[in-house]
Amino acid sequence: MAYSIDLSGRVAFITGASSGLGAQFARTLARAGAGVVLASRRIEKLKELRARIEGEGGDAHVIELDVTDHASIKSAVAHAETEMGSIDILVNNSGVSTTQRLQDVTPEDYDFIFDTNVKGAFFVAQEVGKRMLARSRGAAPGSFTGGRIINIASMAGLKVLPQIGAYCMSKAAVVQMTKAMAMEWGKFGINTNAICPGYIDTEINHRHWQTEQGKKLIDMLPRKRVGAPENLDALIVMLASDQSHFINGAVIAADDGFAV
Ligand SMILES: NC(=O)c1ccc[n+]([C@@H]2O[C@H](COP(=O)([O-])OP(=O)(O)OC[C@H]3O[C@@H](n4cnc5c(N)ncnc54)[C@H](OP(=O)(O)O)[C@@H]3O)[C@@H](O)[C@H]2O)c1
Repeated sequence: MAYSIDLSGRVAFITGASSGLGAQFARTLARAGAGVVLASRRIEKLKELRARIEGEGGDAHVIELDVTDHASIKSAVAHAETEMGSIDILVNNSGVSTTQRLQDVTPEDYDFIFDTNVKGAFFVAQEVGKRMLARSRGAAPGSFTGGRIINIASMAGLKVLPQIGAYCMSKAAVVQMTKAMAMEWGKFGINTNAICPGYIDTEINHRHWQTEQGKKLIDMLPRKRVGAPENLDALIVMLASDQSHFINGAVIAADDGFAV
């Protein structure tokens, strides 16, 4: 008998679904049966992904979202729930990075990173979390099926890496945010966990792997390889599912052993 996880009837809201990890998370959750809301700024990319998911038999909806704009967060979450129903699963994935030494970080660089990775991620989770809390409180005993918040942090939130110090600081904040949410919201049936991916080939870093510096970095990795977005498929499905009900506040490295 095979072990399987079925997300049929669940609604997943994925931020930053227009590329890289977010697009893969959306496809994977849709394949597992969830209805998926694809949210980010580049609507055309989201529409392409929606067509792909629908072509695979999935159910997807596109919503414009800028996580640096509080009004946009509120309206995207409200719109998502009107279109697809209550959000059961949040994949809080939108993120940006810049590369420079600490002494060269400008206030603009700092705000760019923190407004998206920390403030944006916090208020997306808060907006979805508030609705999950209201459902949990209003539900008949035993009838709330539970909420799942999956924050996409980074191994850079656990281990400091050169040239991306401000990004490391922002992802460390996401790790603590995850634990704070797990502590406050766990008793209401809302589980919050973080995934800390290692280097995965996506738009955020794709060009880097072709450079001399990038090749040197690959050479220093434990297994001399960069990951692919699908390497996180099993983890995202597990954390999104009912079967993960005993996992709350976990910070899970998926980095091929880089941070050990
Ligand atoms: N790739 C890696 O090696 C790696 C490792 C560890 C952690 N991560 C984290 O994984 C997450 C996804 O990164 P990725 O590698 O998939 O990079 P990516 O391909 O560049 O994707 C980043 C996503 O974030 C969205 N985004 C950026 N600013 C946004 C905003 N203001 N509002 C809404 N969405 C916004 C982008 O969508 P729009 O441009 O359409 O808005 C895009 O879909 C990030 O949080 C990143 O820090 C990546």
